[in-house]
Amino acid sequence: MPTPLLQVSNLTATYMEDGQHLTALEDVNLHVDLHEFVCLIGPSGSGKSTLLDIISGLFAEVAGSVEIDGREIPPAERAGSTSYMRQRDLLMPWRTALENAALALEVHGHTKTDARARAQERFAEFGLAGFEDRYPAQLSGGMRQRVAFLRTVLAERDLLLLDEPFGALDALNRSNLQQWLVQMWEREQQSVVMVTHDVDEAVFLADRVIVLSARPGTVIHEERINLPRPRTRAMLTSNTFLAHRAVLLDALGLLDGDVA
Ligand SMILES: Nc1ncnc2c1ncn2[C@@H]1O[C@H](COP(=O)(O)OP(=O)(O)OP(=O)(O)O)[C@@H](O)[C@H]1O
Ligand SMILES: [Mg+2]
Repeated sequence: MPTPLLQVSNLTATYMEDGQHLTALEDVNLHVDLHEFVCLIGPSGSGKSTLLDIISGLFAEVAGSVEIDGREIPPAERAGSTSYMRQRDLLMPWRTALENAALALEVHGHTKTDARARAQERFAEFGLAGFEDRYPAQLSGGMRQRVAFLRTVLAERDLLLLDEPFGALDALNRSNLQQWLVQMWEREQQSVVMVTHDVDEAVFLADRVIVLSARPGTVIHEERINLPRPRTRAMLTSNTFLAHRAVLLDALGLLDGDVA
């Protein structure tokens, strides 16, 4: 067995709330292989964002470990291997769209001019051409999300962590960006962990879908997706697609007849 890029073992996470410990994640075990695309689904409050916060080192576990490339990495050092788009986009209000998109490259040592030139090249692809000099407050929610997504992709880390990156987008933009993400991934072969609440999106994009239980979140199901690559929209109606979809809805307790 090759060493996975990411190995999360026996991970438990708690928050303090009103002087009480609230267990958000309990004994989570999962791995992500090199070049693998994993989607993470689960009910609201199951700890999906908490898990990405931990993998990226923004928040620390109370028990368990996170290994990258076979080496246990303490929280403070995890940011070096990961590029993270949080659930709420965190654009800096005083920077323009272009300056925000270029931020990750600047932080990682590119000159301002070079970082902005690289970011600029991708603006049209993300449907943002002409909006380079706008400030976040002057952009729509969907545009802000695309700027945050562009910034994350430009960081070029081995492990891309995406928390509902397309949540605020309309169906057309969502479908375009899904297609774009899957093509970028097929070309660049980063490893991806992407949270989504959309089961169809998970099946369409992922090699494997991991399902978390309601809080405290723990892994209750893993589904390897048997759809060939490259993925196409035509697959959305295939029997394989529908079978995966049914299994995942069942794991979430959302099949017809179940009480959601
Ligand atoms: N900073 C915090 N302080 C206290 N409790 C928190 C904090 N962040 C999250 N929680 C709690 O931890 C649990 C998991 O939250 P988390 O945001 O990880 O869930 P999620 O699966 O990402 O949900 P959603 O699908 O709604 O985004 C929830 O019960 C939430 O209320
Ligand atoms: Mg979340």
